[in-house]
Amino acid sequence: MTPEPTTAIIVVAAGSGTRLGHAEPKAFVPVSGRSILERALETLFELAEPVQVIVVAPSTHLDATRVAARTVAGIMHEAVTVTVGGPTRQASVAAGLAAVDPAVDVVLVHDAARALTPRAQFVRVLDAVRSTGHGIIPGLPVADTIKRRDAADLVLATVDRSELVAVQTPQGFPRTALTSAYAAADAEHTDDAALFAAAGNEVHLVDGDPMAFKITTPWDLRRAEGLLGSPSGLRTGVGVDVHAFDPAEPLWLAGLHWPGEVGLSGHSDGDAVSHAICDALLSAAGLGDIGGHFGTAEAHLAGAHGTVFLHRTVELLRDAGVTVLNVAVQVISNRPKLSPRRAEAEALLSRAVGAPVSLAATTSDGLGFTGTGEGLTAIATALVTSAGVPSGRK
Ligand code: CTP
Ligand code: MG
Repeated sequence: MTPEPTTAIIVVAAGSGTRLGHAEPKAFVPVSGRSILERALETLFELAEPVQVIVVAPSTHLDATRVAARTVAGIMHEAVTVTVGGPTRQASVAAGLAAVDPAVDVVLVHDAARALTPRAQFVRVLDAVRSTGHGIIPGLPVADTIKRRDAADLVLATVDRSELVAVQTPQGFPRTALTSAYAAADAEHTDDAALFAAAGNEVHLVDGDPMAFKITTPWDLRRAEGLLGSPSGLRTGVGVDVHAFDPAEPLWLAGLHWPGEVGLSGHSDGDAVSHAICDALLSAAGLGDIGGHFGTAEAHLAGAHGTVFLHRTVELLRDAGVTVLNVAVQVISNRPKLSPRRAEAEALLSRAVGAPVSLAATTSDGLGFTGTGEGLTAIATALVTSAGVPSGRK
């Protein structure tokens, strides 16, 4: 049985997101295919110790919140409590605090809007609360010069930046001190640490992280999407091909003729490298395998060179709207020695595929059919995208 969690993380997600300007509350706005709330929750289930997760949600979105929690938490979903928020962030945190389990002695409060906060930041805050017993907040130095101004935008002074820190979440506290501070609060504070300090408690800083920025404006949302990459139209594929050596055949490998080398047997020219690439490309595109497209029954393919298969495979992918991003192949064999012609082979294969192809070789240390020299194995992987070429990879 899993031990009862002694840490609770309250994720406040009950705001409306006025500045983001979407119809739905901010936590339910998608960022690269998943909601801001799902992104924020993902990290919590990567923590080493079990935690009670309390999501404070808008009253209109309690069911949607339970669905999001179930999606992210999977079998851990029973560790998630969903509760309804209040009109202010402070009221929402108070609602979350009321749902903390009895065994919990440390509470972290986190903004769902800081959806990309790394796991390490939770660990840093949690460890510091446990080792010091104080309130702990993550902060970053302020990069811009800060000015004080009056209501008419007259600049009054430059503030000494070295005294300032920009504060993030999660903010962590000993449970009983935080509960008492909330019970005693008679004013609105801009964060939990201010409320905690107002009740006479000590608050200390640990390092923040730029990834923990708060998604507030449409620009922040674009930045988060840029950091996460495109809504993953990326797919990988794998292909393996084996051919036996046949001294009666010329060697064709990686699209090249290798004079003086023992050839490979097969219905076609036996070019295991080209065939493995075809299978990797088809596998990545979800289009089956080489045997399904180019059967040995096709007489015109008897003796066909590997590049014929490559061109036809690339056409199949193009028709399916799939773009090849790169291919990597490794040959396992005692011969031929590939390195003298590696650049030539890579250039030829890259032209055929329309994307970079890298070629490597190894032996199997005398073991198996590749070790005894009976045959040759080629293994290829391919990366493709069906979402257009992602920015930054053009
Ligand atoms: N929050 C909340 N309950 C509220 C207000 C805010 O739980 N009544 C949460 C938000 O969901 C967010 C975090 O507090 O995760 C930080 O607030 P903020 O970024 O200001 O979010 P919103 O208040 O939703 O946005 P805005 O101020 O632009 O309306
Ligand atoms: Mg707000």
